[in-house]
Amino acid sequence: MSAAQKLGPSSAKLRLDDKDIDLPIFIGSEGEKAIDVTKLRAETGYVTLDSGYMDTGACTSAITFLDGELGILKYRGYPIEEIAEKSSFLESSYLVFYGKLPSESEYKAFVQRIASFDDIPEGIKQQIKCFPKTAHPMAVLSANLVSLSAWNEDLCTQDLNKDQKDTAIAQLMGQIKVMAAYAYRHSQGKDFIKSDKSLDYCSDFVYMMTGDKNVKKEVAKALDVLLILHVDHEQNCSTSSVRMVGSSKANIFATISAGVDALWGPLHGGANQAVLEMLQEIKDSGKGYEAFLAEVKDKNSGSRLMGFGHRVYKNFDPRAKIIKVACDSVLQTLGVQDPLLDIAKGLEAVALKDEYFVARKLYPNVDFYSGIIYRALGIPTNMFTVMFAMGRLPGWMAQWKEMVEQPGFKICRPRQIYTGDTHNHYVAIKDRK
Ligand code: CMC
Repeated sequence: MSAAQKLGPSSAKLRLDDKDIDLPIFIGSEGEKAIDVTKLRAETGYVTLDSGYMDTGACTSAITFLDGELGILKYRGYPIEEIAEKSSFLESSYLVFYGKLPSESEYKAFVQRIASFDDIPEGIKQQIKCFPKTAHPMAVLSANLVSLSAWNEDLCTQDLNKDQKDTAIAQLMGQIKVMAAYAYRHSQGKDFIKSDKSLDYCSDFVYMMTGDKNVKKEVAKALDVLLILHVDHEQNCSTSSVRMVGSSKANIFATISAGVDALWGPLHGGANQAVLEMLQEIKDSGKGYEAFLAEVKDKNSGSRLMGFGHRVYKNFDPRAKIIKVACDSVLQTLGVQDPLLDIAKGLEAVALKDEYFVARKLYPNVDFYSGIIYRALGIPTNMFTVMFAMGRLPGWMAQWKEMVEQPGFKICRPRQIYTGDTHNHYVAIKDRK
């Protein structure tokens, strides 16, 4: 059930320069409240200043709801816990993109259409081979995604119709899997392996990476759940980048590639790789948890407890809770004993009791345990953020589609307050001191 969003009956009163103005209040379907400032500058000459967009709602959206205080996450109104337990990655992708759970025939057609994009252009294969073997797979993925625009001019028109949007989601979901696996094969100096349509999405990905067709069903299931948990997360940094770039009517390949770039950063999706490196460093250095935490609490150290803290969650990240349980179960099922899991659990227990983390409401986020599962599943560390990108792709597509279909859609263009010099005059280069 969805409750319609509505403009509240009340408005906010603002007194500026001896003038009273009324700003409408906007209330979302889950009760979130916003002051609509779209007329503020025109009526008063003022803009809002909110560095890092801490308190700015950049758009209205009907895709994902999250309550950071209560630790709630829903896709299209469905709790993440239910989706992770009962749905699949492809079905939840359909859900976020099309706004409803598919019927059997719709689902089958969607899965088949994605599977039909089981190859990438020869030129892109050659391009992958031109990268140094040491290249980070996120660099390869980003370059390949934007390069797809050169082979798909029909999808690069300014306004895509419904058919083209249906093709775009299926094509990108099919081809990102191939490109990700091939980026990995290249880094290992190995030949590419043709996708096998008879396998499910995650098994096919593992097959293309490893060459092993007998992917354990527990491995495929665990990967599927991880991808589900990454499908969408409202206006995070990469999704906002996708909206920003897409708002200029850049083509869909350039738009999605921008999302990959934003995701790569260690404060965002790159944190899953950074967590594993941090745990490994703690193990290798023999540093105690207290000593390590003292380091991250020291602002001069420049390091942070990776996989902890979140802009929106001031409580447990619900995805982290699911992943922690999955982590225990996957390692047990696969008979893997990972000392890094013990370190992660020990570190978490100490941090959650530490006044620094308690006072700042810093809890484990989605990236804290995901890397340990990926490792147990045989996914190499530098592929972790690529896995995040594969999971987030349907969310980026859904957010882009929602934006371009919203009435009155505008290019995203924030303002600023200029603080630089005001009265300089040009001096010829020979006369400059
Ligand atoms: N370790 C140590 N201190 C931290 C951490 C951390 N992981 N996270 C936040 N803090 C401190 C920060 O130093 C600041 O302290 P003070 O108030 O004394 O200056 C306070 O907590 C608030 O931090 P902030 O940087 O202002 O908060 P933010 O909302 O801008 O940043 C964050 C959110 C996720 C970037 C940050 O918590 C962080 O850097 N975490 C580690 C990286 C990480 O795990 N990122 C993955 C995020 S979840 C996956 C995703 O969606 O991308």
